[in-house]
Amino acid sequence: MDAGTKLCCLIGNPVGHSISPLIHNSISEKMGINMVYTAFAVESDNVVEAVRGAYALGINGMNVTVPHKVAVMEALSQIDELAQRIGAVNTLVRAEDGFKGYNTDIIGLMRLLEDAGIEIKGNSFIILGAGGASRAIVYLCASCGADRIFLLNRSVDKAKQLAEEVNSFFPDIVEALPLKDYGRIPKGKYPVIQTTSVGLYPNCDIAPVEKDDFYELVSEGVDIICNPTNTKFMKLCAKHGAEAYNGLKMLLYQGVAAYELWNNVKVPRNICDEVLTLMEKEMQKNG
Ligand code: ATR
Repeated sequence: MDAGTKLCCLIGNPVGHSISPLIHNSISEKMGINMVYTAFAVESDNVVEAVRGAYALGINGMNVTVPHKVAVMEALSQIDELAQRIGAVNTLVRAEDGFKGYNTDIIGLMRLLEDAGIEIKGNSFIILGAGGASRAIVYLCASCGADRIFLLNRSVDKAKQLAEEVNSFFPDIVEALPLKDYGRIPKGKYPVIQTTSVGLYPNCDIAPVEKDDFYELVSEGVDIICNPTNTKFMKLCAKHGAEAYNGLKMLLYQGVAAYELWNNVKVPRNICDEVLTLMEKEMQKNG
């Protein structure tokens, strides 16, 4: 580090176990870029002040995590259109008059799907859960030309509200259903994206749906959970012959997309793969 070292950082609360410093510092080291990345725990009352202070200090870029992805928006000078629709920002890029907000979580998921060979355009999806993560994913699928989206949630009202909102931009794409009513989905095979918190460490031995007939609908299963790296949902998908993916690549690629925005570079494929291996090792240590 020297006086010319660029600084990027994460704000959230808590941030002590974040894997983002590993992602960004490894990329900088491998690409020979003079940038460091660290994490700050910021209380909710201080988010706007923290962002303004960071701008005044010349901080190059920031990531924002739970619980500040919505609150941070009022501290920004510009917001990317998709991030605005999603209503959540996870990446801030330094602009002339303040930070501009983006949602690279969604770019992370897009690249994960690409790697898995899952085409969004023209495909129909099942999405489990209707919380903050689901919201971004439903917008991504709708805006990339998904044919239909079956949005399943334990509390159907939340799914209906999200469906109504997305359908106002992309008419009649999203159909909201109670989780237990998956039998109403037309028979067929669908990529399924699991966005609920069910199965997250330490409650690893549960999945949002456990009945075998549900898994007959699954062509590929994507669980956005990273810990554990093989969730009960993924195991049930595999048991029924469907390829299953965890959320580690989504996490990696949201970081890569942020890194590329901050440094105006393209992170090569082999470096992404190397960083993914480091992340897997780190998760095993913590799991
Ligand atoms: P996030 O921002 O990570 O999406 P969230 O907004 O709290 O988190 O949403 C959590 C999601 O997990 C919701 O869809 C929630 O369903 P409800 O809206 O019915 O609460 C879902 N979820 C949490 N616990 C669940 C459980 N035991 N069974 C089924 N769904 C569950």
